[in-house]
Amino acid sequence: MPVNFKTLFISLPGFIVLSVFFSGCYYDVEQELYPKPIDSGMNCDTSNASFSTKIYPLIQSKCNNCHSTSISSGGISLEGYANVLVSEQNGKLMGTINHNAGFSPMPQGGAKLTDCEIALLTTWINAGALNN
Ligand code: HEC
Repeated sequence: MPVNFKTLFISLPGFIVLSVFFSGCYYDVEQELYPKPIDSGMNCDTSNASFSTKIYPLIQSKCNNCHSTSISSGGISLEGYANVLVSEQNGKLMGTINHNAGFSPMPQGGAKLTDCEIALLTTWINAGALNN
């Protein structure tokens, strides 16, 4: 079918509008595909880094499977505040979590804690490692 000039004249602006619209959408999607990393500072909320609400839940999910009173791998229990404090005070808690030289990297066989999780622990320790 031969291209009718009138049809072209009407559809061309529509095409341009649609192109702009879709490229706008694509840009939005791209923003969602590559969000800012969680540990970029902005998105890491280290306020209220209390033992009961932030620190112990983290240890329970990442460490207690292997470090409890019943399963104390390497002789280390991280069950309850008193036990966590022992490992905090002898430097092993952060040494293992930060994968520092001279410590076994923890969690064993798992991914290193995120920068944000480590920042939470550090905030709690700097505030006195309280049982709060
Ligand atoms: C899958 C099991 C497992 C998980 C999960 C795990 N550990 Fe361990 N951990 C071990 C074993 C086994 C040892 C003893 C062998 C060794 O030192 O590598 C150990 C040893 C340790 C030690 C003593 C190591 C040293 O260098 O003195 C500390 C402290 C420790 N873990 C802390 C943690 C912390 C904190 C977490 C959570 C962030 C954690 N572990 C998660 C299995 C685990």
